[in-house]
Amino acid sequence: MANGNDSPVLELRNVTKRFGNLVAVNNISFSLERGKLVTFVGPSGCGKTTLLRTISGFAELDEGQIILDGEDITNMPPNGRDTAMVFQAYALFPHMTVAHNIGFGLRVRKKSKQEIDAEVERLLALVQMDGLGDRKPHELSGGQQQRVALARALSLNPKILLLDEPLSNLDANLRVSMREEVRKLQWRLGLSVIFVTHDQEEAMSISDLLVVMDHGVVKQIGSPTEIYEHPIDEFVANFIGHINFFPGEVIDLSGDEMTFKISQTNLKVEIPPFPVSVGDRLKAVVRPESIDIVSAEKELSDRENVLEGRVEFGMYIGSIMRLTIAVGDQTVHVDESDPQHKGIFEDGQKVKLVLKKRIHMLMKTPD
Ligand SMILES: Nc1ncnc2c1ncn2[C@@H]1O[C@H](COP(=O)(O)OP(=O)(O)O)[C@@H](O)[C@H]1O
Ligand SMILES: [Mg+2]
Repeated sequence: MANGNDSPVLELRNVTKRFGNLVAVNNISFSLERGKLVTFVGPSGCGKTTLLRTISGFAELDEGQIILDGEDITNMPPNGRDTAMVFQAYALFPHMTVAHNIGFGLRVRKKSKQEIDAEVERLLALVQMDGLGDRKPHELSGGQQQRVALARALSLNPKILLLDEPLSNLDANLRVSMREEVRKLQWRLGLSVIFVTHDQEEAMSISDLLVVMDHGVVKQIGSPTEIYEHPIDEFVANFIGHINFFPGEVIDLSGDEMTFKISQTNLKVEIPPFPVSVGDRLKAVVRPESIDIVSAEKELSDRENVLEGRVEFGMYIGSIMRLTIAVGDQTVHVDESDPQHKGIFEDGQKVKLVLKKRIHMLMKTPD
């Protein structure tokens, strides 16, 4: 059944999958818009692969429903579903040439030789492997093998492409260039993709939408920016990027500003977008790159939101300097951009840290 273009391509309704007592996927509901790339991201063991296996039909659900393009596929066998999956380990047929690997699904569907040859040529070009159809998988680099796996997955025009850590076996530089390729291909062909990774940077950089998972449950769904800037809890804040937490107490509210007492000082910050009263314990969540750092001698015109500290350790990474600063008994991480121009801080040096007024706040959860 064909559906209008604004209906979701995939809907998960309260999907649950158990292994004995373990709830690997716990009541997940989610829908994917056509032509979008969503990434399920979370630590190893949080249920990402199991979720993909329920969608592709390799794992049976215990509860819930899966709707693909308007059709309930919950009880359909894997080969009846219009889904295709690519795995971390390339899973190519080792004895077959690249062209045979890519054409495999088309041969199973009894397409004519002519049709298969043309389609294989097209797919080879799509993944920038023109002319390499006669090679065997062992004659290819890891990145090339993964391109072949991608081409093979695309050969049957799946309604949804499921990518399970497809870049995790590649070395760092190749991972980055391959993720750009996957993203470009997805855009160009308007593919609907579920991408799975445990790597938060990969997830941030490739996705229209992120679904952050932990222990089988969805913690937060949002665009990469929303999740980075407004993590819903400490788990998400910690998992997506580096982070500083400043626990403290609201000691005054006036106008659109509140005074927030942390160990060393009182911060003046914007009132968070949830109800707060004097006496509430909150946590300020501050990314390392949103803290300004200057040497202790520097006079600041605005003395608000300034912390005094000492550099414990600095790591020069070229584009940034990643500093660990002791502030009282707390350790604060600061990323200084453009260190060549703004100055390199030495270990042991006294510094001032300046925090902004707009700070993301979390309700403090009991320790
Ligand atoms: N076939 C299985 N039998 C029993 N437990 C499993 C099976 N597959 C996965 N699990 C368990 O389910 C949980 C989720 O696993 P998985 O989906 O592979 O996580 P991820 O892909 O996020 O690393 C883990 O605790 C894992 O040990
Ligand atoms: Mg996995």
